[in-house]
Amino acid sequence: MKLNIGVIKGDGIGPEIVTEAMKVLDKTSEVFGHQCCYTQLLMGGASIDVNGVPLTDETIRLAKASDAVLMGSIGGDARVSPWYQLEPSKRPEAGLLKIRKELNLFANLRPAILYSELKDACPLKEEIIADGFDMMIMRELTGGLYFGERKTIEVDGVMTAYDELTYNENEIRRIAKRGFDIAMKRRKKVTSVDKANVLDSSRLWRKVVEEVAADYPEVVLEHMLVDNCAMQLVKDPAQFDVILTENMFGDILSDEASMVTGSIGMLASASLNDTKFGLYEPSGGSAPDIAGKGIANPIATILSAAMMLRFSFDLDKEAEAIELAVSQVLKEGYRTSDIMSGGNIQIGTSEMGDKICSYIHA
Ligand code: IPM
Ligand code: MG
Repeated sequence: MKLNIGVIKGDGIGPEIVTEAMKVLDKTSEVFGHQCCYTQLLMGGASIDVNGVPLTDETIRLAKASDAVLMGSIGGDARVSPWYQLEPSKRPEAGLLKIRKELNLFANLRPAILYSELKDACPLKEEIIADGFDMMIMRELTGGLYFGERKTIEVDGVMTAYDELTYNENEIRRIAKRGFDIAMKRRKKVTSVDKANVLDSSRLWRKVVEEVAADYPEVVLEHMLVDNCAMQLVKDPAQFDVILTENMFGDILSDEASMVTGSIGMLASASLNDTKFGLYEPSGGSAPDIAGKGIANPIATILSAAMMLRFSFDLDKEAEAIELAVSQVLKEGYRTSDIMSGGNIQIGTSEMGDKICSYIHA
């Protein structure tokens, strides 16, 4: 099979981690008899440097023409990077939000799994994580606070900022359906997270999620307030199967969930629309502090590439081969610095890619 993949290496550690994911994709293709054709696309700071804007129409066109897009990370250090002297709508992150919107990538899947080999890297106590955990955060990605109107104006001589939070029932229904569909393939439990004790958008969220739940009698639905969810994630992460939530809450909770897996460098993600197309990226950021040092953890990007094979190309066996190779390498004790603990062998970004390749088998 021929796989047409758009590649956005991006900023910071992006180029390093994407190079390793491509290495693993090429090895997997070789083993299983496929062919990856890559089209390099510019976005974020790298695009600002060349085009003056974080995302061009040409990049959008080429992304749409690909079967899937693999992405590294976007953005730099706001304290020193000239990109942050630009107005907010021209900064690197604006490119990321625009591509999500243009490609209608409303469903963001972020699986947070505790590998038994990484228990030492998990900051939670042994008794809390005894049985491990495996949850899927389903984050709505094209609505809410991220895409509402915003402005900063002077009201009666006082600087005042507005960020609008809007959801309509259709936006809620389509992400809820995705959440329940995924739950049906897992442990059949959905925890819908909102702030219905305060926000109207959350009250509508809850109502629509309940309507959708009626079509999935096998799935157990529970509602949880977002502040309580933040607490439950560190108190008893094993209680979660699918966490279904809106854009901003999902952004925050997925960083928290990633840390309890040991490192944000382990958290993959897929952003999907209602076709087979998807954009696959690690959930972590561009980590400008460690960029270019060859020490970033490429595993989240490699696992995102596995999600790409599964969701955009229906290549389940190939995806499993990558996931298995990652756990083999962890079992052998190989670690990048972010997940290093005593008795293991510390290696760099590209050695990690090589090791994972060496464990890919049909
Ligand atoms: C993420 C990131 C982005 C987000 C930033 C870079 C705009 O934190 O993908 O979680 O907030 O969605
Ligand atoms: Mg985030």
